[in-house]
Amino acid sequence: MQNDMNYLDRNEFNFNPSEKVIEAIRNFDPKTLCFYTRIYDQGKKSIITVRLSEIYGVPEEQVLLTYGGEDLLKNAIHYYLTKDDNKKILIPEFSWWYYNKVAGECNGTFDMYPLHEGDDTFAYDVEEVIEYTNRIHPRMLLLASPNNPTGNSLTYEEIARIMENIPDDTIVLVDEAYACFITNDTSYITSLVGKYSNLIISRTLSKFYGLPGLRCGFGFQGKGHEDFANYTNKYLGYNRFSEAVALAALDSEDYYRGVADEMEWGRQLYKKELGNLPGFKVYKSVANFILIKYPIEIKEKLQQALADQHYKIKFMADKGLESCLRITLGRKEQTQTVVDTILRCIN
Ligand SMILES: Cc1ncc(COP(=O)(O)O)c(C=O)c1O
Repeated sequence: MQNDMNYLDRNEFNFNPSEKVIEAIRNFDPKTLCFYTRIYDQGKKSIITVRLSEIYGVPEEQVLLTYGGEDLLKNAIHYYLTKDDNKKILIPEFSWWYYNKVAGECNGTFDMYPLHEGDDTFAYDVEEVIEYTNRIHPRMLLLASPNNPTGNSLTYEEIARIMENIPDDTIVLVDEAYACFITNDTSYITSLVGKYSNLIISRTLSKFYGLPGLRCGFGFQGKGHEDFANYTNKYLGYNRFSEAVALAALDSEDYYRGVADEMEWGRQLYKKELGNLPGFKVYKSVANFILIKYPIEIKEKLQQALADQHYKIKFMADKGLESCLRITLGRKEQTQTVVDTILRCIN
């Protein structure tokens, strides 16, 4: 059962699902679950991969379907890092802790390339990523766009430049869990996976489409790596309930775009209220969370004040980000509560 805690510490969705999603759940015929899907007989993976193939303009064989972005990532890292002797993986300096964990599970060794702090954002140095990749020659290179927790992203041209200038046998996984917040233009995916066989782009319904509990992740793979696509296939089909809900979510783009606009209100409020205060820095974010540097002296007081109101935000512990908060962009009243609480703690 849901409790009354406001979890703004884990990049979840603090809004309602779309009407179409609610209807799909209401109208789902339980008998569907008595049977495996039949679509596999037609040489397809799922009704979702078929729909994703239409939306993204990528051939269905190159569409990956998994249980969350987490599952795609785990499958890819386990698959490629155990395939031959090269067990090296290169990841961003500040990134989702899970990358390291999964690499460790298959005795991978990881190196990190730096992210650079600018005026109001962290940034990749594309030339440096290329240089690190050529020098280390990892089996896998992980890029996250937007990156968690720093919120910065890569452009199509930057991804293409990296792909053009690194070894062909390095598999590049671009974690785009939060990418739908930037734009609904997906045409760059078609051209990237059409051109680079060593590229995987990973996406999810957990963030923009607000369904982390559904555990539906998907991705696109460059042509020529069908072995990995086959490895991730679910031969008896995907979860049929998830399929029905996922289709409804993918069909609710306008609703979720409206929610994303509401998050923009939150970004602006954090910037306006905290951006110019001594000891604070509000980083630019293109995801459903925002990174804010704060005066660490108020940490305990702030933690307590938030807990008293049943709020949780993420107090970063990563080396180099100890003085930062990562706050999920929630509903307006939640954002207002967090801002007011922070302001009270510094006065
Ligand atoms: C950067 C990043 N990638 C992927 C995920 C995975 O999300 P999911 O497994 O729910 O699709 C997360 C979850 O927070 C994340 O922060």
